[in-house]
Amino acid sequence: MTGTGQDWYEDAVVYTLDVKTFNDSNGDGWGDFRGLIEKLDYIDDLGVDCIWLRPFYPSPLRDNGYDVADYRDVDDRLGSLSDFEEFTDRAHERGIRVLTDVVFNHTSMDHGWFQAAREDPESEYHDYYLWTSHVEDAYDTINIFPEYEDGVWSYDEVAGKHYFHQFYHHQPDLNVANPKVRDEMHDILRFWLDKGADGFRIDAAHPMLMQKGHNGTEEGIWLFKEMRDVVKAEKDHAILLAEADDQPEHLDHYFGDGDTFDLLFNFVLNAHMTYAAGVKDTWPLHRADEILPDISDVGHWANFLRNHDEWNLLKLPDDALQHAREYFGPDDDSSWIFGRGHRLRLADLYDGDHDRIAMAHSLLFSYPGTPVILSGDEIGMGSDLWLDERESVRTPMQWDDSENGGFSEADREDCYNPPIAHGRFSYEHINVADQREHPESLLSRIQRIVATRQDNLELVDGSFHIADSGHRDVFVHRLDTDDTAFIFAHNFADESRESVLQWEVPDADTTQELGPGDYHVEDGGVTFLLDACDYVWLRGDKSHWD
Ligand code: NOJ
Repeated sequence: MTGTGQDWYEDAVVYTLDVKTFNDSNGDGWGDFRGLIEKLDYIDDLGVDCIWLRPFYPSPLRDNGYDVADYRDVDDRLGSLSDFEEFTDRAHERGIRVLTDVVFNHTSMDHGWFQAAREDPESEYHDYYLWTSHVEDAYDTINIFPEYEDGVWSYDEVAGKHYFHQFYHHQPDLNVANPKVRDEMHDILRFWLDKGADGFRIDAAHPMLMQKGHNGTEEGIWLFKEMRDVVKAEKDHAILLAEADDQPEHLDHYFGDGDTFDLLFNFVLNAHMTYAAGVKDTWPLHRADEILPDISDVGHWANFLRNHDEWNLLKLPDDALQHAREYFGPDDDSSWIFGRGHRLRLADLYDGDHDRIAMAHSLLFSYPGTPVILSGDEIGMGSDLWLDERESVRTPMQWDDSENGGFSEADREDCYNPPIAHGRFSYEHINVADQREHPESLLSRIQRIVATRQDNLELVDGSFHIADSGHRDVFVHRLDTDDTAFIFAHNFADESRESVLQWEVPDADTTQELGPGDYHVEDGGVTFLLDACDYVWLRGDKSHWD
């Protein structure tokens, strides 16, 4: 495993996948844990050392498993608890850690707690949720899925009252102010640590802190400190990763005094970086740098280009958001969702341009923070806008050009989501087997980017500076540690660029670690010669400098 001890996640490279769509071992059309175990060598070869599994618990799947009906089991279409344990054992043998996704802001309506709660107001489970008999006077706020839900209160016929939900109506919010609910959460964390998990992605951490329901409760960050204490007491290397798409000025809050979350998804950088590399302009990266808080004393970012949800653009200024809506989406606007993002994968956003996708990954990996790869992005998989809502970006992994892309032997229509069989993103054109054969394929390039990062882990602690590259479409930055200077150049343009910098870079002690771009060093300055989408990583050993 990279890093020993408790700080392993600072050096880690994370790969996120959904078991349902990764690899089907029994031909029923659903990916499963046994299929995932078969593909662990692939994940290992990619060079990543941490897997974040999206929800795999029993669920009616009305929100892709983020609607949990039982927190202590595996959906039987995906396998069993012992399959999960075997998977974590096999992953650990390869030095790969496992994070599971826990959804504590809400349950599915199908969860036994809600069923008991709605049937009997005297049941202890009633107070696991938030109810009102006077909806007109009840606390009101916005629903997070505004295209699908009118508000945050829905009437339950069985209970004869309204219940509170910030997401879909079938996802009633848990009353996290109730100590019994928190005890349940802690037991669930212990349960999965005992089964082999190395930590957790805490879903919807921001909504968990919001004022909830009629009782006006606004939970404090102590909620997560408590969880961290539970987790560390059980396994000292276990971590908590927050999904909290909050305002930039609130983000440091999630780290407490370095005693709360270990990692926090960097949604600000996500919107700005993916946009910048797509529109071929570096201003968004300058802006991200200005608006992000300095968290270096308390925690670390988890950085990403895309995830399994919509590409949320709310962190961009309004005019850039409108620009992104038109620039990246199809003319009929069919990809625009929730008034805030595109339900498209990276390859759609970048028009299938593998050079640009590789360059964007190089940029991601050259930032301090823990990089996260969305499964399928390493080969340039596209989306299927015929599918509902965010399912468009959740089609099965494309392993080869055989039927269903090698994902399953079931009939296509029996697959959890149909594999992409037509068009430029079909498994015939985009698949692992094909790209594995070619040293210049996207997969091979991303493998090299991961390996170079793993060989240069000092950069993780480097202090970050942006240079004036002389071009709006060339991004040059530097990470300095006491002994080492890393200099990175990325050309966003569709044409060649020459960029001359006057940074101290002695010739003899500078080596190029990565990239298809060229450079030369003269008089203590460096000149980059970059073709379209080229990138260069330079490393200088400062101990030899005067
Ligand atoms: C964030 C998850 O990533 C998303 O897929 C889900 O719909 C919401 N949380 C609600 O759980």
